[in-house]
Amino acid sequence: MGAFPTTLPGMSEHLDPRGAIGVFDSGVGGLTVVRALMERLPFESIHYFGDTARVPYGVKSVQTIAHYTTQIAEFLLEKRVKLLIIACNTMAAVAAQLVRDLSPTPVLDVIDAGAVSALAASRSKRIGVIGTPTTINSNAYARAIHGIDPEARLTSQACALFVPLVEEGWLDHPVTRLTAQEYLKPVLAENIDSLVLGCTHYPLLKPLLRDVVGPDVALVDSAEAMAEQTAALLAQRNLSNPERTPPTYHFWVTDVPLRFQTIGERFLGRGLNNVHVVQW
Ligand code: DGL
Repeated sequence: MGAFPTTLPGMSEHLDPRGAIGVFDSGVGGLTVVRALMERLPFESIHYFGDTARVPYGVKSVQTIAHYTTQIAEFLLEKRVKLLIIACNTMAAVAAQLVRDLSPTPVLDVIDAGAVSALAASRSKRIGVIGTPTTINSNAYARAIHGIDPEARLTSQACALFVPLVEEGWLDHPVTRLTAQEYLKPVLAENIDSLVLGCTHYPLLKPLLRDVVGPDVALVDSAEAMAEQTAALLAQRNLSNPERTPPTYHFWVTDVPLRFQTIGERFLGRGLNNVHVVQW
C-alpha cells in the first residue's frame, strides 16, 4: 500500500493533525467503518454523517447520488476534518472522483481499500464481489481491481435484499440464509477464493456468509481494510493525532428513524451518543 489518491497533493501540510476524521455513508451502515476505525485508531476523533432521511442510495440514479454526495462532503469539510472517508460503497462507486475534485483534504474510499485487500487475500485471483445494484452496475470494483492487477478474474453479484434484511436485524435468519445461498450460487460456481463484502451492511452478515461460502473462501471486509488504509495514510502524511486524550465522536443524521438507536448500536457495537439531526 503506497500511494494514496488525493486531489491536491501538498494541501495536507496545512491540515491540523488534531482535527477529526470525516466519515460518511447513506445511512447507519457506515458505522461498521467507524467501528473499525475506533478499534484501529483509538485516539482519532470522528465526525460521522449518515443520510438516514434519503437512504437507501443503492437503488438511486447516478445523478441523485452525486448530488447528495457533494452536499455531505461539503458539510464535513466545513467541520474542518483532516481526512474524508467515503464509507458507502454506492457513493464511492459513482461519486468518488467528484469528492476528490472538491476536497482540499485527502479522500479515501471503501472500494479502493476493498480492491487492495481482495488481491492480497486471493491466491487464485478468482474474486467474487457482492454489493448493491448501483455498486455492481457501476463496475467500480472491477475497475479498481483490474487497475492493480489486470489478470484478476471477477464475478459480481448484486444482492439487493441484503440491506433490508440486515436493517430488519435478520442476521442469522433462515430467510437470510436462503437468500444468501441463492445469490451466491453463481458466484461460488466460478471457484472464487475470496469474496469482497462490497456494501457497508454486509460485515454484519459475516458469520452467516462464512457458513454459506465454506472455509476456503476469504471474506474481504472493506471496513477493516479501510481502517488499515486510514492508519497508513495518517502516518504517511504526519496527520496522526499527537494527543493521547480520549477522542470525541459526533454523529450527524438527516432523520432519526424508528429503531435508529438499536440499529445504530448494532452496527457500532457500542452505545451511540452525540447524535445531531441536520435539517436539509
Ligand atoms: N451504504 C450502502 C453501500 O455501502 C448501502 C445502503 C444503501 O443502499 O444506501 O452500498
